[in-house]
Amino acid sequence: MKNKITPQNNEVCLGDDEFIVSKTDRKGIITYTNRVFMQIAGFSESELLGTQHNIVRHPDMPRGVFKFLWQTLEQEDEFFGYVKNLCKDGSYYWVFANITPDYDGNGNLAGYYSVRRKPSQLAINTLSPIYQEMLAVEQSGSARDAADRSIALLQSKLDELGVSYFELVMSLDKD
Ligand SMILES: Cc1cc2nc3c(=O)[nH]c(=O)nc-3n(C[C@H](O)[C@H](O)[C@H](O)COP(=O)(O)O)c2cc1C
Repeated sequence: MKNKITPQNNEVCLGDDEFIVSKTDRKGIITYTNRVFMQIAGFSESELLGTQHNIVRHPDMPRGVFKFLWQTLEQEDEFFGYVKNLCKDGSYYWVFANITPDYDGNGNLAGYYSVRRKPSQLAINTLSPIYQEMLAVEQSGSARDAADRSIALLQSKLDELGVSYFELVMSLDKD
């Protein structure tokens, strides 16, 4: 379904008190969605449940961000990041996402739990051009190691700034 959506230059903004919540299994298949997710993204509960979370993947997002996201989760660490997502009608919405491992009653990894809130304008303004550069690097050259090339670009930006990924993300969480 995601490939049939034509992106539109129309932004949907989360309210200050709105949180998008979803849960997935270990493979990223959605197992729970709250009402705000359905309202903002424009999908019904039945369209979301049982579907890969990439249903809201926006083509402006570099693959490197998602590779890093999954690397983080596979280590059972929590991920923080800014993500531009695609609505069913082609609009987009930016989120500040936190994804954590979700354990069952026996302490086994059951899947992942994500809560997102409205990001600062500073974060959107800072990361949009960086993501664009990452995307350009991915699109020039072989697809096989595209995500690794863009992660390397992001790392070089972090080195220039002298901060870790986590420090950058947290420093942008203010207006
Ligand atoms: C709990 C959880 C939440 C996720 N939330 C999003 C999201 O909001 N937007 C998104 O594009 N990908 C999200 N992902 C990552 C997707 O599973 C997927 O890796 C990504 O959309 C890239 O899709 P692709 O591998 O088909 O290119 C999430 C993954 C997990 C485990």
